[in-house]
Amino acid sequence: MRNKFLPSFVQRKGRITKSQEDNLKFLHRYHITSHAQILLDKSNFKKIILEIGFGNGENLINLAKENSQNLYIGSEVYMAGIGQVLGAINANELTNIRLITGDIRLLIDKINESVFDEVLIICPDPWPKLKHHKRRMINSEFLDSIYKVLNSDGHLFMSTDWENYAESINESINQNSDFKILNSSPYENITLTKFQQRAIEEGRKIYPFSLQKT
Ligand SMILES: C[S@@+](CC[C@H](N)C(=O)[O-])C[C@H]1O[C@@H](n2cnc3c(N)ncnc32)[C@H](O)[C@@H]1O
Repeated sequence: MRNKFLPSFVQRKGRITKSQEDNLKFLHRYHITSHAQILLDKSNFKKIILEIGFGNGENLINLAKENSQNLYIGSEVYMAGIGQVLGAINANELTNIRLITGDIRLLIDKINESVFDEVLIICPDPWPKLKHHKRRMINSEFLDSIYKVLNSDGHLFMSTDWENYAESINESINQNSDFKILNSSPYENITLTKFQQRAIEEGRKIYPFSLQKT
């Protein structure tokens, strides 16, 4: 299918290990491709939480382990990360994770109702060069699309380790007056992901944004 969005990710050729590749054989057990498949699970869980761009899945796996009452839907395009998460799902015998592969914006675009209680995006690709800023996933249009799929009082948590991206996220939030800005979030102290860890080691600050659907 032709993607109407500019790519927000680089297809990382990064090495995939033999075990990550083996794990991908079990993707079909957890893979969802439609809105209808998300709704099938809705009545079995207290909350439905979407993490976009889970990377190696450190946070997704820990949240799912600690909150078996919730369903965690992980979205990623990076096959090594998907393989990594499949291994952790198996090792921890988790039954509350589903995976969406491919550009999440294509699926969100097709959903015309509120589905998610929470949406998390941790360290989205920063696209630091000015000429690439238009590839950044978080912009005003994207916030509108997330607003549409969140349940009332639903929570959007985002964080970036790039000051300039944080400034542009702030501007997008100001343009999108529908969200209420919260002063704190339970997600500010979650398991550090690979990109958060790297940012801290390199002396960069993490900028969190907690928003609530009004
Ligand atoms: C900089 S990495 C951060 C990964 C992880 N959240 C972390 O903090 O370690 C951003 C991730 O978002 C994924 N990504 C970017 N655009 C995406 C999209 N449109 N749909 C799904 N995943 C996307 C990329 O593949 C990449 O793994």
